[in-house]
Amino acid sequence: MKTIGVVTSGGDAPGMNAAIRAVTRIAHSKNLEVLGFERGWEGLLTNTFRRLTPRNVGGIIQLGGTILHTCRCPEFKTEDGLEKAAKSLSANCVDGLVVIGGDGSFKGALELSKKTNALIVGIPATIDNDIYGTDETIGFDTAVNTAVSEIDKIRDTAISHERIFIVEVMGRTRGFLAVTVGITVGAEIILVPEEKGKTQDVVNVIRENARKGKKAGIIVAAEGCGKVTEIAQEIQEKTGAEVRLTILGYVQRGGSPSARSRFLASLFAEKAVDLLLQNQGNLAVALQNGHVKSVPFTDVCNKTKPLDMSLIALADMLAT
Ligand code: ADP
Ligand code: F6P
Repeated sequence: MKTIGVVTSGGDAPGMNAAIRAVTRIAHSKNLEVLGFERGWEGLLTNTFRRLTPRNVGGIIQLGGTILHTCRCPEFKTEDGLEKAAKSLSANCVDGLVVIGGDGSFKGALELSKKTNALIVGIPATIDNDIYGTDETIGFDTAVNTAVSEIDKIRDTAISHERIFIVEVMGRTRGFLAVTVGITVGAEIILVPEEKGKTQDVVNVIRENARKGKKAGIIVAAEGCGKVTEIAQEIQEKTGAEVRLTILGYVQRGGSPSARSRFLASLFAEKAVDLLLQNQGNLAVALQNGHVKSVPFTDVCNKTKPLDMSLIALADMLAT
């Protein structure tokens, strides 16, 4: 193994830069050259890359986003696109590729591995924390902290005005972000896509709280739950409470990565480079019970990470 490529793909996540830096510096310390492909898979289709060195990845560990840029790349899903990407790798003598991204990016990596001799390993990075096989992804902790600091501010005004706020957080189709954020802001109720039809429970909780003299409240809803405007309207009509809605949106994807996201990025990068040096591919690195392991792409792509529903029960007890 002489040259490895690095690519950031799919939705960006805070800590991607820390991972680029760590992969580059660890690889160089093992005498590997590193090429950073630009704009996700698109960089492989267009053969656009820059040489990464320990010096030119300096000063980025604290930056959100990704210096390599990222995008969603429909062309990569086609036979033609995959062939072009494979050609780029062989034209540049890339023997190993590190893909930093989410499960969609790993699906792409698995398809690409069928067309190239280069070994491919994945580093899980997404604010959604929805990747099978790993307890945590790069960026998740930062997004949780961002959402928590915003919702703490919303709590102030909710209390002053004795209002109910529904706050929608990201997470795509899953509720990992909503559950962790909900527990850590002391939400009165958490709505996740994994548990459907809870609007009546929300109404009951608001009525019961009002009886106890608690008129303000925060409902954390995962974006995958559906139309929050309709949920807000229904709750207002049924409870008579003043309901307001905040969609946190893309602030959750940006900002300086937390210490935890940077640390995870550094640990994952070390494992990714190690796997390539051991001539192992088609694996995603993963955090399992505090240890850095690896999981086959086939599992990551075909299995679903379970959401621990006992956390919702915990949130309910904490909100009484
Ligand atoms: P994430 O990696 O954050 O889950 P996406 O789901 O958008 O983000 O996937 C990132 C990119 O990976 C897509 O734009 C596409 O280029 C590629 N990709 C996703 N799914 C596949 C697939 N089944 N086959 C080939 N490429 C894929
Ligand atoms: O996967 C990260 C994420 O931010 C999801 O939480 C959200 O549903 C999606 O990406 C938004 O995607 P886009 O950047 O394409 O709007």
